[in-house]
Amino acid sequence: MKVLLLGSNGMLAQDLARFFSKEELTTWDIADLDITNENEVKNKINRLDPKLILNASGYTNVDQAETDKEYAFAVNDQAVGYLVQIAQQLSAILVHISTDYVFGQNSAKGYREDDQLTTALNVYGASKRAGELKILRADNLKYYLVRTSWLFGPSTDHQHPNFVNTIIKLAKQHPQIKIVNDQHGKPTYTFDLAERIKYLVDQKMPSGIYHCVNEPACTWYEFAKEIVKLSRLTTKVTPCSSQEFPRPAIRPDYSILINTKLPLLSNWRLALKKYLNVKS
Ligand SMILES: NC(=O)c1ccc[n+]([C@@H]2O[C@H](COP(=O)([O-])OP(=O)(O)OC[C@H]3O[C@@H](n4cnc5c(N)ncnc54)[C@H](OP(=O)(O)O)[C@@H]3O)[C@@H](O)[C@H]2O)c1
Repeated sequence: MKVLLLGSNGMLAQDLARFFSKEELTTWDIADLDITNENEVKNKINRLDPKLILNASGYTNVDQAETDKEYAFAVNDQAVGYLVQIAQQLSAILVHISTDYVFGQNSAKGYREDDQLTTALNVYGASKRAGELKILRADNLKYYLVRTSWLFGPSTDHQHPNFVNTIIKLAKQHPQIKIVNDQHGKPTYTFDLAERIKYLVDQKMPSGIYHCVNEPACTWYEFAKEIVKLSRLTTKVTPCSSQEFPRPAIRPDYSILINTKLPLLSNWRLALKKYLNVKS
């Protein structure tokens, strides 16, 4: 099958490329195709004529989006509209990745795939929700809208440090680190997520929204403690509140995705172990 992977230098995309390597795979990042350029999107993708478009690109800097709203929406919303149109025209399947931050309600119970959304708490979440709506309102589109959260995976540290690498770096530099203990989510390994996305396509699952996350929920503090422990570092990890670390974008206290449609992914502790072994 002819497959196009967009955002190919990104963290998730690097693992998607592994799982789709046996297909006739074309990988493009922004230097090959800027997805905000409507004409280029339509012309280049039309010429390639893929049967599957994996959109792993995105404006992913949550804090920067607060002051870069127009461009965040251009990438996460308008560009998704262009991809929808070309996918419809070519009868290609569109796989699009979204986020727990589309939910604004802050419910401790967590969110199922079909739960109603209220306004997102930050610009990034709002831009991703607007992109989701481009897909959900499209006619005759075969799609998988995959929501995930707290990704860790292959390093792209030159631009987007991932949480695991950041904690290891900080723990090597300081005898004690403080990590927020009042935000709850599900850390997710890009390798596990990419495997499930391949499964969705291979199994020809129905179009729809899917939640794909490692289990169970934890706080950033619990995640950081495990990273330090598995890295065999002696740094003391201390819990603190979000108020102690104010950031430009508001994060929800709870953004727990509940997966009711796919085989569950493994415990994030196992996934983290796998990731750290891969790295060393
Ligand atoms: N990271 C997370 O914790 C997380 C959580 C939930 C959902 N997601 C979603 O999952 C997807 C993948 O996330 P990720 O963390 O793997 O992303 P990432 O590492 O930031 O990679 C995104 C890629 O998209 C590229 N890109 C940005 N603007 C583009 C444009 N206009 N045209 C073409 N490519 C462009 C980026 O290039 P540059 O590096 O040059 O900008 C980068 O290579 C995104 O849709 C994200 O919203 C991520």
